[in-house]
Amino acid sequence: MPTFYLTTPIYYVNARPHLGHAYTTIAADTTVRYRRLAGDDTRFLTGTDEHGDNIARAAAAAGVSPQAYADEISATFREMWRSLGISNDDFIRTSEPRHKKIVQEILQKLWDAGEIYLGTYGGHYCFGCERFYTEKEIVDGKCPDHLRPLEWIEEQNYFFKMSKYQDWLIGYIRDHPDLIKPERYRNEILGFLRDPLQDLSISRPRARLEWGIPLPFDDKYVTYVWFDALINYVSALGDLDSERTRRYWPHVRHMIGKDIVKPHAIYWPCMLKAAGLDVFRELRVTGYWTIEGQKMSKSLGNVVEPPTYTTKYGNDAFRYFLLREMVFGLDADFSDSAFRTRFNADLANDLGNLVSRATTLIVNLAGGKVPDAAAVGGSGLKEAFERAVAEMDRAMADYAFHRALAAIWEFVGAANRYVDTTQPWALAKQPERRAELEPVLYTLAESVRLLGVILSPFLPEAAARIREGMGQHGEPRLADATWGRLAAGTPVAKIGGLFPRIEEKKAAVTAPVTPAAGSAAVAIADFRKTELRVAEVVAAEAVAKSKKLLKLTVSLGDEQRTIVAGIAEHYAPADLVGKKVVVVANLEPAKLMGVESKGMLLAGSAGTSLAVLTVDRDLPAGAKVS
Ligand code: MSP
Repeated sequence: MPTFYLTTPIYYVNARPHLGHAYTTIAADTTVRYRRLAGDDTRFLTGTDEHGDNIARAAAAAGVSPQAYADEISATFREMWRSLGISNDDFIRTSEPRHKKIVQEILQKLWDAGEIYLGTYGGHYCFGCERFYTEKEIVDGKCPDHLRPLEWIEEQNYFFKMSKYQDWLIGYIRDHPDLIKPERYRNEILGFLRDPLQDLSISRPRARLEWGIPLPFDDKYVTYVWFDALINYVSALGDLDSERTRRYWPHVRHMIGKDIVKPHAIYWPCMLKAAGLDVFRELRVTGYWTIEGQKMSKSLGNVVEPPTYTTKYGNDAFRYFLLREMVFGLDADFSDSAFRTRFNADLANDLGNLVSRATTLIVNLAGGKVPDAAAVGGSGLKEAFERAVAEMDRAMADYAFHRALAAIWEFVGAANRYVDTTQPWALAKQPERRAELEPVLYTLAESVRLLGVILSPFLPEAAARIREGMGQHGEPRLADATWGRLAAGTPVAKIGGLFPRIEEKKAAVTAPVTPAAGSAAVAIADFRKTELRVAEVVAAEAVAKSKKLLKLTVSLGDEQRTIVAGIAEHYAPADLVGKKVVVVANLEPAKLMGVESKGMLLAGSAGTSLAVLTVDRDLPAGAKVS
């Protein structure tokens, strides 16, 4: 049985949990739920990072002890994850004795092995980040993150001999191409390692900072917060030689945000190597969320806390949006309108409708029992399902949640089209065609049952409701996601209101449909001059040196063309391949960033959202659009 141990960053206890924290935790939760569904031996860890200057100062400002302060905020995180349905096996706090013990044990081991020495350190220090900045990193004498002046500090400190691991680390990253992903973060780290690596100051004098773990070999110092925090991933498993550590540590993977790649990709492997522990198997790095195009920050007052959405629309809807909207590793934007659009289109219309229509038909036309029939061969749904599962599996190995969901939604779309074309309600009215009805209803029931299995990592609550309505008991397993397993006679209940549509305010619905002021009306004859056609994307790639452009190879049935489209900030190339899009086919060729484009891709946009036009039923590539 494969073993899979996944961790999230442990969050600082100086801010309440927000959308950014929730994203990494939800993405990790989805991954672990997927591995559990596949039958792996899994372990999932999250927790809070509680030591350091920042916390000590925040506690002082609140007039409480650092421990009391940490207790309160840590509990907020724990409670937030519980209410969001996060399935972590453990929650580690760095102020716990079990953590302190392992940190001290590792420090002692490194000290005994001569990996740590006492030296003097002087540098530009940012109290916000709790770290020294190198000359190169400083912007106008200020911390690039906090934009506050840095302070020069000189003090005696203990150093970890990190510099001696530079060549080893470069070699290790080169030999393990999958260690750090996406690629851009691996390259960033290899780039950073082209400059000499410094030794790492791993202590802070207690005279300046009390709130930390004392060094076991000199208690006038406490451990530097990163050296302390990273060890949580090990300490949460127990003693270094415990059964649990031996079982899970060799399979550890970390999911983190792009802000903390350096400590994870540089300090941490060197620390592990020096301590004689295995290096993690994977470091997976997520992008950052902006809110309506802006950085999320307290000072802008735009911090999104999950309950704003989850109490109104449910945990699953919030999860779905985050997982579907962000191309893993790239930044993404959260906006109220994008949330509503996805909710109504994907959850209410596509999924909610399918499940409600199918179960209502089975209840009304088959007495609420799965009919005794085989699935309809040749409906294409079995194949569509198998394609979706295969793509979901590939995508999940890449942590590409958006691709996994897009693949499942291809199947949802196919199933909805199947209801439209077979029209079971009409079959039921024609006695001579009743024999066709039962296999159609079986096919629909099977489609819905299978969605209850494969959606469970992404939409745990909705998937559980689907399974319950479809008479399925016990934990779902990926092994059950095999077409045709549904037993005749299984009771089916109507599953309505999974995702009730969000009604738009009147103003939004009646947005201008007439030409906006200043835009001239076009004669129909002129409009007809534009040749619009359905095109299938056969290949897609980024255009070198361009942030916006993608180069698409599209098929118009009897010919292939290159079309350059300004959609790179909205779509990953892999998302487009296989899509049937709409293009202007008779446009004069134009060169964009050195690439000749023969035609134009149509897309709609509103604010920062953009969506490529596709056709909602299958049409051959080349079909005319009018
Ligand atoms: N305590 C350290 C991590 C130590 S891990 C050994 C820390 N904590 S934090 O509270 O600042 O959380 C940082 C993490 O929160 C990021 O790495 C990222 O996963 C998540 N995010 C915080 N803001 C975010 C966004 N705006 N967007 C996406 N994720 C963000 O750093």
